[in-house]
Amino acid sequence: MYRSHSCGQLRASDVNTEVTLAGWVQKTRDKGFMIWVDLRDRYGITQLIFDEQRTPAEVVEKAKTLGREFVIQVKGTVIERESKNANIPTGDIEILVNELQVLNEAIVPPFTIEDETDGGEDIRMKYRYLDIRRNPVKNSLMFRHQVAMKVRNYLSNDGFVEVETPYLIKSTPEGARDFVVPSRMNEGEFYALPQSPQTFKQLLMVGGMDKYFQIVKCFRDEDLRADRQPEFTQIDCEMAFVEQEDILTIFEGLTRHLLKDIKGVEIGGFPRMTFDEAMKTYGNDKPDIRFGMKFGELNTVAQHKDFKVFNEAELVVGIAVPGGASYTRKEIDKLIDWVKRPQIGALGMVYVKCNEDGSYKSSVDKFYDQEDLAKWAEVTGATPGDLICVLSGQTNKVRAQLSALRMELAERLGLRNPEEFAPLWVVDFPLLEWDEDTERYHAMHHPFTSPKPEDIPLLDTKPGEVRANAYDLVLNGNEIGGGSIRIHDKETQALMFDHLGFTPEEAKAQFGFLMDAFQYGAPPHGGIAFGFDRLVAILGGQETIRDFIAFPKNNSGRDVMIDAPATIDQEQLKELNIQLDL
Ligand code: AMO
Repeated sequence: MYRSHSCGQLRASDVNTEVTLAGWVQKTRDKGFMIWVDLRDRYGITQLIFDEQRTPAEVVEKAKTLGREFVIQVKGTVIERESKNANIPTGDIEILVNELQVLNEAIVPPFTIEDETDGGEDIRMKYRYLDIRRNPVKNSLMFRHQVAMKVRNYLSNDGFVEVETPYLIKSTPEGARDFVVPSRMNEGEFYALPQSPQTFKQLLMVGGMDKYFQIVKCFRDEDLRADRQPEFTQIDCEMAFVEQEDILTIFEGLTRHLLKDIKGVEIGGFPRMTFDEAMKTYGNDKPDIRFGMKFGELNTVAQHKDFKVFNEAELVVGIAVPGGASYTRKEIDKLIDWVKRPQIGALGMVYVKCNEDGSYKSSVDKFYDQEDLAKWAEVTGATPGDLICVLSGQTNKVRAQLSALRMELAERLGLRNPEEFAPLWVVDFPLLEWDEDTERYHAMHHPFTSPKPEDIPLLDTKPGEVRANAYDLVLNGNEIGGGSIRIHDKETQALMFDHLGFTPEEAKAQFGFLMDAFQYGAPPHGGIAFGFDRLVAILGGQETIRDFIAFPKNNSGRDVMIDAPATIDQEQLKELNIQLDL
């Protein structure tokens, strides 16, 4: 037996017990006649004491050789500490050691294994196994496990069955690029790693599985951000014989349950907003509704004067920043520089200070009088003391820019409280999205999403206006889930492929298996997938998913610890029939 107790277990009530502990040396203090060692494992820290008077001399000698992160085993007696440490649960006791065994030595770690470490991100990722010894990372992984358990139990109790689907598949068109895997046995052919189990879960519905879920890895070769990893995890779900309303109700239930159980938060209303409304009011399809600063469209009240910039703009839109009237000229200039950064891309920003005395001072006083500006205040909901920030330009661009500014200001004003949770369903997404690059329509969600039946006639005339039975779950300004009711008949699916620019032959080659399956009695079905990493991060009060993944990739998609991706040797390439033309 390596250990009788963990390093987080012993209390004052255990005094006089003989124990065996094993763990890592967190730190040592050598006072000559007395040596203290903090012994750490996953469960906590226990102080060891080696005392010249009471510990065998050879054991004290051995203790003097211990270095940080040595793996040791000790036997000794639990004694009461003279100076207690109220900061740790084991702080009342220490172990008077009489046997010490060094199980493994350790070289000096490249950063300190403490809550506040001196190691930067890169070095911590390279030595992630050492990083995992630190409490913040360890706790995040344990938190992730807790959330996964709760999700599994909840769904299983509700009759969902977890079914594994394959990882070596054919491309699933979810909008990102596929990671591909060459097949040795099938020369010149490739598997794709699933961007999601979308087609398989639909086939499970045809197979009568009825209520499916899976906590599953998905792979997408796309540009990375704080909330995106090339391999990530979904809580993937699908149900047969359901309508949109059923899905929303069930997954509202799951979200409520997790928030209550994990955060102790009772969600009151679970609001819904259409995609159009979200774009108009927040410039974004995943609005953070924990705070206001709603968009006020100013075209009608700002396009009647000689201000050319506004007159030529498709959209003039502003937000009221609470307390912003007190910003200095310098602060406002900085804000203007912020929106003009290439990442945001605004050409400029007009502002109006709403003074406490009810008067207005704007950067466009030359064109607009007090009466005009009062109307702007009314539209944006600005009150005395606020600052109105106005952007103008092409509708989609200007909405994205103002939305970025809104989020940035909310962050600065401390309005994005990580302990407050505001979920929101965004519904009625457009079915199709125009792609400027390829000059054709793409499925906004994926090609299996069903159009709203009443909008089908618009497919031929105004494809961009067809709405889908698709929904996203947004939590605190993050898209944590998305799904749809699916097409379940061959004809509509063929019609959809046609509108997406697939010839019948292409559709058959890529999705013949699904269309075939639809001929054998496919039930009406629909589903949703939660981004599990995102969900865990947000419940954990953060937005960077990397912190909740044991071995994440960096922003260039590299695992710097194992140094992947990497080249493979000629033999392997030959076996796969791949010739690199470098
Ligand atoms: P979607 O593409 O919306 O839907 O993905 C579902 C959820 O997965 C999360 N997500 C990601 N998380 C981390 N890194 C990524 N690269 C990443 N990409 C997506 C998001 C997103 O809301 N098959 C459909 C679901 C369905 O229709 O049922 C799908 O995959 O939180």
